[in-house]
Amino acid sequence: MTPFSSSAQPIPDSANNSQIEYINMHPPRQDAVSEVLAGLRTAQKTLSPKYFYDERGSQLFEAITQQPEYYPTRTERKILADHAAEIATSLRTHAGEHITLIEPGCGSCEKVKLLLNDILPSRYVGMDISDQFLLGATENLSQSHPKLDITAVCADFSQLDELANHLPPGHRVVFYPGSTLGNFTPAAAQTFLSSVRTLVGDNGGMLIGVDRHKDSATLDAAYNDKCGVTADFNLNALRHLNRVLPANFDTDLFRHQAHYNADEQRIEMHLRCSQSHTVTCAGQEIHFVEGESIHSENSYKYTRERFTSLAKRAGFAIQQSWQDKDALFAVYYCAAI
Ligand code: AVI
Repeated sequence: MTPFSSSAQPIPDSANNSQIEYINMHPPRQDAVSEVLAGLRTAQKTLSPKYFYDERGSQLFEAITQQPEYYPTRTERKILADHAAEIATSLRTHAGEHITLIEPGCGSCEKVKLLLNDILPSRYVGMDISDQFLLGATENLSQSHPKLDITAVCADFSQLDELANHLPPGHRVVFYPGSTLGNFTPAAAQTFLSSVRTLVGDNGGMLIGVDRHKDSATLDAAYNDKCGVTADFNLNALRHLNRVLPANFDTDLFRHQAHYNADEQRIEMHLRCSQSHTVTCAGQEIHFVEGESIHSENSYKYTRERFTSLAKRAGFAIQQSWQDKDALFAVYYCAAI
């Protein structure tokens, strides 16, 4: 299945594991088609970064995290591993024992494994848009943590409010690592954090990893790895659209571009078109002129001050934070206020 499957799709047979509860909340296909077409019809063509993530895209993202230039993943992993006990104490102090730990966009669930033995949540809820990847990741998690109750939710970030209805009441903490917050515009980040605040309630909290604003050279290198994995990841969005809309993008006519826009404090990724041509997307013609781009991703970087005010506007206050020795990346525990 793909992110365009309908919510009525049955869960694959391979998902029959008694310890894992599966919830399929896939957005309807028609929403995705209209969303893609609307983005491709604006003056600066845009595509939501969620379209990177079919099964291959999720694998490519995992490969990006192994690239020497892409520092965020390994830096955050080290912060989590080095401070797991302290992080667990912080959660216990502010959110109490027996929490439900919810991870939107959980991917391979690798990061949470660094914390589970210290946090000891009552339940882990992993949420991801790529259902095959989600099934594999949560089955793998249940093998390494056989006593953990797991819920796997196939949904995108916009469905957090809906998720609240499916979870038992109790103390909730959202785990949101990887600086995925950076892929939202500041306004959308605010909306997302407000949904998190609603989901966790007055006693809950949020453990979040945020990439910090820094020199452009480090950032430009991180999004232009020498092996071309990020380029392939960016182009994969077009292959994904070809399959599911369907569309007929010729990936040879587009190339990956990424640069740090220091004024906006964000990496911008684009797919730049090398010649004028027309693409058919879900039966609609979309014209490209030579040199124009599809803006496929923003990755905002946050100073502590900017993150603090964003969190505050959403109803959270930072209680504790951890960072690496070079101050590349920060992990914050924020309590509901
Ligand atoms: C998932 N997200 C936080 C990554 C980022 O760094 O913004 C996605 C990514 N795009 C290119 N490389 C990695």
